[in-house]
Amino acid sequence: MEPVRILFVCLGNICRSPTAEAVMRHHVNRAGLGDRIEVDSAGIGGWHVGEPADERARAEARRRGIDITGRARQFHPGDFEWFDLILAMDRQNLTDLHDRAPTVAHRSKARLLREFDPDAGGDLEVPDPYYGGSRGFSTMFDQIEAACRGLLGHLRAERLAS
Ligand code: 4NP
Repeated sequence: MEPVRILFVCLGNICRSPTAEAVMRHHVNRAGLGDRIEVDSAGIGGWHVGEPADERARAEARRRGIDITGRARQFHPGDFEWFDLILAMDRQNLTDLHDRAPTVAHRSKARLLREFDPDAGGDLEVPDPYYGGSRGFSTMFDQIEAACRGLLGHLRAERLAS
């Protein structure tokens, strides 16, 4: 059976989306679903292509027992074909994805990650922590963690049930 393929997208692919990729992979593997759910991440912009994730993001993840590996890459149009769900960190990322979607069907794959956090309330963005202090990275991680738990529950109920 084909796996469900999830792509996390932010602006630079060095803070938020690599964190989401690592957190989601961690939960997927712990749930024994590594062969059913594939995860990746990409940035709207290309400034940091080839770089590892921001040290502050990696430090926050390490504190919580999670390794962020991999290097930044830029989102490309083929991602709309390959991935089933494309999850944006903020509304600007979502707008940028919508602008790049070739069809309505592709457009509908793009959503906000925090839509999957039942406790997110009205604020569905993971704000960019890049220019903030380390507290921004802790808040970012909490938001991503809660949303990834909700996302895994959604996938189990809606996409993996057979
Ligand atoms: P990210 O954070 O989108 O969470 O990876 C950013 C990192 C770098 C830049 C913007 C956002 N930048 O403009 O260089």
